[in-house]
Amino acid sequence: MSARRRIAIVGCGIGAQHLDALLLAQDLWEVRVLCDRDLGRAKAQAARVPGAEVSTSLEEVLAREDVDVVDICLPPALHVPAVRAALQAGKHVVCEKPLASSLAEIDAIAALARTTGRVVCPVYQYRFGNGLRKLWRLIEAGVPGRALVATVETHWDRGPAYYRVPWRGRKESELGGVLVSHAIHAHDLVTEILGPARRVHAFTATRVNCIETEDCAAACLEMADGALVTLSVTLGSAEEITRLRFCFAHLTVESALSPYRPSGEPWRFVPRDAETAAEVKTLLEDFRPGPEGFHGLFTELALSLEEGEEPPVTLADARRSIELATALYYAAATHEMVELPLRTSHPAYSGWLRWLPA
Ligand SMILES: NC(=O)c1ccc[n+]([C@@H]2O[C@H](COP(=O)([O-])OP(=O)(O)OC[C@H]3O[C@@H](n4cnc5c(N)ncnc54)[C@H](O)[C@@H]3O)[C@@H](O)[C@H]2O)c1
Repeated sequence: MSARRRIAIVGCGIGAQHLDALLLAQDLWEVRVLCDRDLGRAKAQAARVPGAEVSTSLEEVLAREDVDVVDICLPPALHVPAVRAALQAGKHVVCEKPLASSLAEIDAIAALARTTGRVVCPVYQYRFGNGLRKLWRLIEAGVPGRALVATVETHWDRGPAYYRVPWRGRKESELGGVLVSHAIHAHDLVTEILGPARRVHAFTATRVNCIETEDCAAACLEMADGALVTLSVTLGSAEEITRLRFCFAHLTVESALSPYRPSGEPWRFVPRDAETAAEVKTLLEDFRPGPEGFHGLFTELALSLEEGEEPPVTLADARRSIELATALYYAAATHEMVELPLRTSHPAYSGWLRWLPA
């Protein structure tokens, strides 16, 4: 293993949890700079890392030669300009969700990443969990069989205190509501596991908080292989859960219910018959857990940079997630069924913001 990757965290809200993960992976990462325009926030995190420096300016961070990777944890509307500036400065980039509010922006970022030869790793940390890893092991062995249906519930709770942060709940700064700020993770897992959707219907509503953006949604998807999926989303659930439930021909699968760690243990695998039960048992008996959440993402990212391989989450992955969000917003706005993939000629290719309710 060569030298540790030197990283700067820009934005010290969720950035503090990224730091937790980077400190768990100290053999792979050296945190050089904590940046936040709120100096107190940057200092509070820097105090956790001997030798780390603080900054209040992204530009200052990008000018540093001792930073290889910039981890963008800024409010959503700042993501695209920050990612572009970081790539242009020759840095690899990690960026929080949503990476962008249009397919056009994702495609432009992908082009810039190719030109600069730098990597962009969008943050979808729910992809790193031991329950989900078990499902992948079963899928790779062909155990579950054909996907029939799935349901996804993102039932979380957010109130006025959460929306006191000025960028939240506003179209211009949050770039959307619960579909892209909260449920984006569970919805990403569905398309990761089942493949892309080919047709979607959706409804959105603002029923919980006095905000501009949606905080409830219902949608149904027909996946490319014909499986049917129902999405249910709210920020008004007294009990918080995230649950993914898949009915495959030979296996019913239910995720953990932990709202922010549904891909961790425990997952339930219910086989249809004794033969499937035996296969599941054999395949999972020597399962070894790996690092989860942000820790899993940063661990795999460091290893991929070392090997010169694709990052553990790619721009193509983010594109699929952004494409689904675009289709859901467009369907909700027009009351049309939307067919995917969305072409560059689609009216929402250049973004969903104009399709959000006024
Ligand atoms: N992956 C997840 O599970 C997860 C969870 C929470 C938030 N997020 C995402 O992370 C991003 C940040 O969310 P948050 O909840 O941490 O927000 P936050 O408001 O708590 O933190 C953002 C920080 O960025 C700083 N900041 C704003 N503009 C700046 C600038 N120009 N230069 C330097 N610092 C600046 C603010 O001072 C603030 O401390 C959002 O995109 C959000 O959707 C992801």
